[in-house]
Amino acid sequence: MNETPSIRRVAINTGGGDAPGLNAVIRAVVLASIHRGWEVFGIENGYGGLLADEPGGLTPLGREDVRGITHRGGTILGTTNRGNPFAWPASDGGAEPRDRSDEIVARFRELELDALLAIGGDGSLHIARRLSEKGLPIVGIPKTIDNDLCATSLTFGFLTAVETATDAIGKLHSTAESHRRVLVVEVMGRDAGWIALFSGLAGSADVILIPEIPYDIASVCAKIEEREAAGRGFSIVCAAEGAMPTGGDVVMKTVPRGSGEQIRLGGIGAQVARQIADRTGKETRSLVLGHLQRGGAPISYDRVMSLRFGAAAVRCVARGDFGTMVALDPPEVHAVPLEEALRGVKKVPVDGDTVLAARALGVSFGD
Ligand code: F6P
Repeated sequence: MNETPSIRRVAINTGGGDAPGLNAVIRAVVLASIHRGWEVFGIENGYGGLLADEPGGLTPLGREDVRGITHRGGTILGTTNRGNPFAWPASDGGAEPRDRSDEIVARFRELELDALLAIGGDGSLHIARRLSEKGLPIVGIPKTIDNDLCATSLTFGFLTAVETATDAIGKLHSTAESHRRVLVVEVMGRDAGWIALFSGLAGSADVILIPEIPYDIASVCAKIEEREAAGRGFSIVCAAEGAMPTGGDVVMKTVPRGSGEQIRLGGIGAQVARQIADRTGKETRSLVLGHLQRGGAPISYDRVMSLRFGAAAVRCVARGDFGTMVALDPPEVHAVPLEEALRGVKKVPVDGDTVLAARALGVSFGD
């Protein structure tokens, strides 16, 4: 069954933020590779496992190692969003990052690995593309709860995050209604509004704010007051973390990084809640769903997508189809060049039918 006789040993890694479905991909890759008679190795902690002075290493993955993990959240290999081989963070935290990509390439060759299956989102696949330009035979697998990768209609993890956010919005409805309050929920998604749009629509939010449609706070408040006038004393606003007002900017926050700090999107929910309370006089609360959206078991669709992506990536390796990413082009999974997946951020189409459906249902986008 070995279509490319030169393939004997393949490696797999998980990079960037975790997403539900990573373990299912790993399981599919391991089982499909073993089926072809290949050996599989997991690189721990992104690319860290290929560097002698970093924690983790290269671990052989057999059937037993991936038994019963399809439904498990997180990644058995560990991940990091501080593991860019081209700008490796200095261990003392202070000095400039170093380019260690040549060490990674050398170690890969020394270990006689024939292919790397790199599971990642935008950041990790940019790294994969640069390593592939240095000669590593790589197939990418599209992961991110943000669903913002081009060339694939879906990334695994997205629909589970939507499920978590939808469930939260459902719960907020009953408390908002009981107290006649406005509740603003901030969801993840970086510069794309996929999670906010899908969970807001599924959860019957009254206002959905997404980066692709800049909002006017007056228009948001008009929707809330219109509901009030119609006897609906509560409202739910679902705001993407990357949403911004017309002519304004995104809201950022600092989060701890070691003894220092780093910048992340965040704070739009609290800001919008403050403005709504000031303008409408309504009692308003906000909450940030945060990393809850990345955790937990993948829903069944994400499990199936992850298994399909993993198996399709192994078929790419067998064909020698490197420098590619597996992508969903419904109903099939195909390979696309990595450049195509990375040509920009896949944004919500503002005139697409999902936005039109929401508008037809009376949802306000604050525009
Ligand atoms: O890209 C996934 C994501 O969860 C984004 O939605 C979010 O903005 C970011 O990662 C959070 O990053 P971190 O895990 O570093 O806080």
